[in-house]
Amino acid sequence: MALSPPRERKHSKLIPLLSIFFSLWIILLLFSFPSPSSPPPPPTSQCPQDMPKFYIYNLPSNFNHHLLHHCKSLNIYTNMCPYVSNEGLGRQLSGKSSSWFVTHQFLAEMVFHARALRHPCRTLDPTSANLFHVPFYAGLYASSHFRTANLTLRDELAVTFSDYLTRQPHWHRHHGRDHFIVVGRTAWDFMRNDDSTADFGANRLLLLPEIKNMTVLTVERQPWAGRNQYGIPYPSYFHPRNRSELTSWQELVRKSTRTHLFSFVGGSRPAANQMAAVRGEILKQCNASAQCLQVECEAGTSRCYEPDRVLNLMMRAEFCLQPPGDSFTRRSVFDSILAGCVPVFFSEHTAYTQYKWYMPNRTQDWSVFLGSDQWIRIEEELGKIQKIQIQQMRIQIIDLIPSMTYAHPDVVHGDEIGFRDAVDVALVELNRLVWSGRKPV
Ligand SMILES: *[C@@H]1O[C@H](CO)[C@@H](O)[C@H](O)[C@H]1NC(C)=O
Ligand SMILES: *[C@@H]1O[C@H](CO)[C@@H](O)[C@H](O)[C@H]1NC(C)=O
Ligand SMILES: *[C@@H]1O[C@H](CO)[C@@H](O)[C@H](O)[C@H]1NC(C)=O
Ligand SMILES: *[C@@H]1O[C@H](CO)[C@@H](O)[C@H](O)[C@H]1NC(C)=O
Ligand SMILES: *[C@@H]1O[C@H](CO)[C@@H](O)[C@H](O)[C@H]1NC(C)=O
Repeated sequence: MALSPPRERKHSKLIPLLSIFFSLWIILLLFSFPSPSSPPPPPTSQCPQDMPKFYIYNLPSNFNHHLLHHCKSLNIYTNMCPYVSNEGLGRQLSGKSSSWFVTHQFLAEMVFHARALRHPCRTLDPTSANLFHVPFYAGLYASSHFRTANLTLRDELAVTFSDYLTRQPHWHRHHGRDHFIVVGRTAWDFMRNDDSTADFGANRLLLLPEIKNMTVLTVERQPWAGRNQYGIPYPSYFHPRNRSELTSWQELVRKSTRTHLFSFVGGSRPAANQMAAVRGEILKQCNASAQCLQVECEAGTSRCYEPDRVLNLMMRAEFCLQPPGDSFTRRSVFDSILAGCVPVFFSEHTAYTQYKWYMPNRTQDWSVFLGSDQWIRIEEELGKIQKIQIQQMRIQIIDLIPSMTYAHPDVVHGDEIGFRDAVDVALVELNRLVWSGRKPV
C-alpha cells in the first residue's frame, strides 16, 4: 500500500539570527524545562518489584533541549513554543482542573522523557540499569527538517546521534539491545529508503544500523518493516497526578449521557489519498444523519484542536469513527478512549497492529471494525449492535484509560501515583521484550 506523505511537511529557510535569540528569550522567560546540566532530584518513592530500573542518558543538548530554542520553526504549520512548554504537556487548559493541558499530538518524546526523569524506577547508576532511555527528540528534529532539500544535511543529526551512541561504554555491553528511544512522530518520518521520494520530508534515522539494534517506541509503527518498533499512545489532554483524579474522571465518563449513536471529528482528504477514501463517505453519511455528531476540521480552522469541544462531543456519542488520514493512526483514537467512546476502525493498522502492549487482543470486546463492504451504511451497521454489547465495550474502554494516559511528571514527588500509566506499561513490556523476564548480568 502506498502511503501518502504526512500533512505537516516542509519547513524552510534560514531563520534570521534575531528571531533565534528572540525565541530563546521567550522560552527562558515564559517556559521552564529542566536544564541539561542540572537533572531533577532523584525520585523519592520506591520502584515496584515488577518494574525495571532504567538509566536516562544525559545527552548533549543539541539532541533535545537545544532544539526547543527554535520552537517557532520546528513545525511549518504550528508555532510549537506553547506546546513545548511544561516539558511538552503544553499550556494548561483553562476551566478544568490543573491536570488538563493543550498537548500536541506529536510530543510523546518530550512527555515520556519528563515523566521518566522523575520516575521511581529511574536509576542514576548505569551499572544497575536494566534499560537505557536515550532521550533524543527525534520527532522535533525531523519536522524541523522536512523542507531541507539537501539530504545529507537533513540526515546529519540522525547520523551524529548514532555515532554518539556507539561511543558510549554501556552501548557495547549488549550492542544496544537494552537501549530504547521514544519518537513522537510516526515511524514513516524516519524511514526514507528511497531518495527519489525525498520531498516526503523523512530522514533515515530508523534505518541506521545502531538504531536497528535498539527498541523504538513510536506513536505509529511501520506495520511490515517495523520489527523493532512498538506502538505507544499518542498523548491526549489529561495528565493526572493521582489515582483519585483518574477515577473521578472515569466516573464522569461512565455517567455521561450519550445522546447520539456516532460521531466524527476530522476533515476530508484529497482524492489522491486512497487510504483516507472512507472519509468522504463518513462526512457525507454523518452530515445526513440525525444520529451523528460532527466537528469538521477544514483547513484554516482550529476547532478540531480545541480539547473541550472535541471531548464534549465524544462524551455524547456511543461510537467514535476513526478512519485513517495522513497515516494509519490518529491521536483521536486516544481522545475517544479518554471520553469513553467506543472506537470504530476502518483499517487494522489504526490500532490493532500498533498498540499490542496497550490494547486487549480480543479487539471485538472494545472496538468495532467495519470492512469496506460496510462503509456505505455506517449508521445501519452500528445500529445493529445491542445496547448491552455497547455497554460492555464501554466498560473495557474506560478500563483502558489509565494505561493510555501519560501521568503528570510531578506525580512521584508526593505519594505513589496509584495507577500504571503509559510510561509504566512501556517499561514493563520493554523489560519483558529485552530480557524475557531475566535480569541482565
Ligand atoms: C549538503 O550538505 C552537506 C553537509 O552540510 C554539505 O557538505 C554539502 O556540500 C551539501 N550539498 C549541497 C549540494 O549543497
Ligand atoms: C548490533 O548487534 C549485533 C549483534 O546482534 C552486533 O554484532 C553489531 O555490532 C551491533 N551493531 C552496532 C552498531 O552496535
Ligand atoms: C490529586 O491531584 C489533584 C490535582 O493535583 C489534587 O487537587 C488532589 O488533592 C489530589 N488528591 C489526592 C488524594 O492526593
Ligand atoms: C450537509 O447537509 C446539509 C443539509 O442537511 C446540506 O445543505 C449540506 O450541503 C451538506 N454538506 C455536505 C458536506 O454534505
Ligand atoms: C491474548 O491475550 C491473552 C491475555 O493477555 C493471552 O493469554 C493470549 O495468549 C493472547 N492471545 C493471542 C492470540 O495473542
